[in-house]
Amino acid sequence: MQYDDEDLEEQLTDGSKHDNDWQLDVTLRPSSFDDFVGQERVVKNLKIAIEAAKKRNEAVDHILLSGPPGLGKTTLANLISREMGVDFKDTQAPALEKQGDIVGLLTNLTEKAVFFLDEIHGLRRGVDEYLYSAIEDCKIDIILDTGPSARSITLPLKPFTLVGATTREGLLKAPFRARFIVRERLDYYEPEDLARIISRSAGILDIDVDPAATDVLSHSSRGTPRVANRLLRLARSLAIATGKKSITKEVAEETLVNHRIDKWGLEEMDRMILKVLVDNAPAPVGLKTLSEIVEEEPATIESHYEPYLLKLGMILKTSRGRKALPKAAEALGVTLGEKTMFDR
Ligand SMILES: Nc1ncnc2c1ncn2[C@@H]1O[C@H](COP(=O)(O)OP(=O)(O)O)[C@@H](O)[C@H]1O
Ligand SMILES: [Mg+2]
Repeated sequence: MQYDDEDLEEQLTDGSKHDNDWQLDVTLRPSSFDDFVGQERVVKNLKIAIEAAKKRNEAVDHILLSGPPGLGKTTLANLISREMGVDFKDTQAPALEKQGDIVGLLTNLTEKAVFFLDEIHGLRRGVDEYLYSAIEDCKIDIILDTGPSARSITLPLKPFTLVGATTREGLLKAPFRARFIVRERLDYYEPEDLARIISRSAGILDIDVDPAATDVLSHSSRGTPRVANRLLRLARSLAIATGKKSITKEVAEETLVNHRIDKWGLEEMDRMILKVLVDNAPAPVGLKTLSEIVEEEPATIESHYEPYLLKLGMILKTSRGRKALPKAAEALGVTLGEKTMFDR
């Protein structure tokens, strides 16, 4: 992905991935389940699947991980392969354009490998058919030649584990979704979990963070570990640049101000969305209209911005569109009209 500094600034609190995050993600990525903070239920279910696979000497059951960007889907897929001691193959589903692409990947998988398909809702038609038979029967049929000499050959595959990740589970067709034995949805992290992640990352990045600063940063991280790590790094830069030995509360607060992040972790785009809804209250606003006004893709609004605003209780999704709740007005420093309060 290409971006310039302005994009980076704009998308600062965006949990989705940028190229220069890659290094940070890898450095700070937990290398064992012990380092993976929170999501206890998900981790427990994954450990059971892994344990069972080890005992039967089989590949782990196919797994679907869903949830907003930056919550740990790729990390968990990685941990599964590490725990199993098998290869890890990481692929973006939308990048598989031809059937040959997926055939090549599947036939090259090693015994019990974890085949990680990110953004699996973006799998192209035709490509998905191959995946179906691969996960169903551990084989694929390919057609050689065309016309009268056409014949199909069956390629057996080594047992493998498909780990699909999606930020938009609703777009997966039910029969496809049903093929995953384990299905887990990752939820936003509580500030206490984010505080633990920040402390761990600070240790790796070799910077001291005052508890009060950890508190400020963890509350402004949109419930998202990737955002927490990015804010930590920005605060660290500010501390270093201004000759401080540690990240103090003041440094943390200044970091947020410098990057226009409020105490809820909201950024410019969140505030634009809220403003449209607050201005229209009590009337709901449709996704398409909203998207046109704030100039952001409907899919991005739905998968990235809305889930967090819903979680904060700032907006409501109704069949007629999105509505602002009083907390949205509070975040913008205004009050919703009386009518709106009753109209809920
Ligand atoms: N539970 C967690 N504990 C500690 N760090 C985490 C956790 N989840 C995510 N992270 C950090 O956030 C980064 C982004 O996570 P990632 O797995 O890439 O998210 P996703 O694939 O869901 O977008 C990781 O590199 C890691 O540093
Ligand atoms: Mg990922």
